[in-house]
Amino acid sequence: MRMHGKVVLIVGAGQSPGQGIGNGRASAIVYSREGALVAAADIDLESAQQTTEQLAGESIAITADAKSESSLAAAVDATLEKWGRIDVLHYNVGVSLAGGDKGPLEISEEAFDNVNAINLRGYIMACKHVLPAMRKQQSGVIIGISSVAAMTTNYATVAYKTSKVGMIAYTEQIAQHNAEFGIRANIVLPGLMDTPMAVDTRVREWGRPREEIASERDARVPLRKKMGTGWDIANACLFLASDEASFITGVSLPVDGGALLHTGY
Ligand SMILES: NC(=O)c1ccc[n+]([C@@H]2O[C@H](COP(=O)([O-])OP(=O)(O)OC[C@H]3O[C@@H](n4cnc5c(N)ncnc54)[C@H](O)[C@@H]3O)[C@@H](O)[C@H]2O)c1
Repeated sequence: MRMHGKVVLIVGAGQSPGQGIGNGRASAIVYSREGALVAAADIDLESAQQTTEQLAGESIAITADAKSESSLAAAVDATLEKWGRIDVLHYNVGVSLAGGDKGPLEISEEAFDNVNAINLRGYIMACKHVLPAMRKQQSGVIIGISSVAAMTTNYATVAYKTSKVGMIAYTEQIAQHNAEFGIRANIVLPGLMDTPMAVDTRVREWGRPREEIASERDARVPLRKKMGTGWDIANACLFLASDEASFITGVSLPVDGGALLHTGY
């Protein structure tokens, strides 16, 4: 029970359509299994409810649109109203191809703004509304889900990469400026994961068989030549959210099976 009695707000707690478990849903399940009270917020309420149905402990499902500050503020308020505190903000929302992202010669203003509004601005606004409660509590943990795309030169599209780099820079800033209040802020960098968001979205966008896309991704992973799963992300987040990580702030933790090891040469 490493999260006993802790209140966790997950933004993007539902899941894209497809096979297997997503990072956000797996994290909700793992936090709950460890004793957390979970507020599952998502633009797709039904998907958030499908997450809460799988939770062992107390939970609520909330509609929240990451593109709307007032909607994020309402999700924070609903969580505070229910449990009176927020111990962990876990910002999982992230879109790439589904948000219209493209390469440097095709990117449009509209797609750039859309992806950055969801991935980066939403993170900043969620932090804005959760920090006052955490400062008052003199404790709190913020976990942002970025991507190895932020670190590698291999990534092909524009808005996803830049939004994920922005998340890292911003997390370092809030870690520094909120350390005196006992608030920790860290980033998780998923690598190639076998999740609906990563694999099934590409199946739909590219019109190719799932097995083909999955085996190409598997082949690029140094460790065991196999993608990771949502459970790998969830377990890393559990550690960062728990008191075991109580002296860790401002870091970006790759959970990538060694994928970033390619970048040196
Ligand atoms: N899966 C991977 O391979 C991989 C790799 C690197 C990084 N990531 C990151 O992991 C995170 C997501 O992983 P996942 O597997 O849980 O994805 P997912 O797509 O299954 O879940 C994300 C949830 O966010 C919700 N969402 C989308 N737009 C929203 C909005 N405007 N407001 C509120 N909710 C919204 C979706 O409805 C969905 O339920 C993202 O930040 C992504 O960039 C994933």
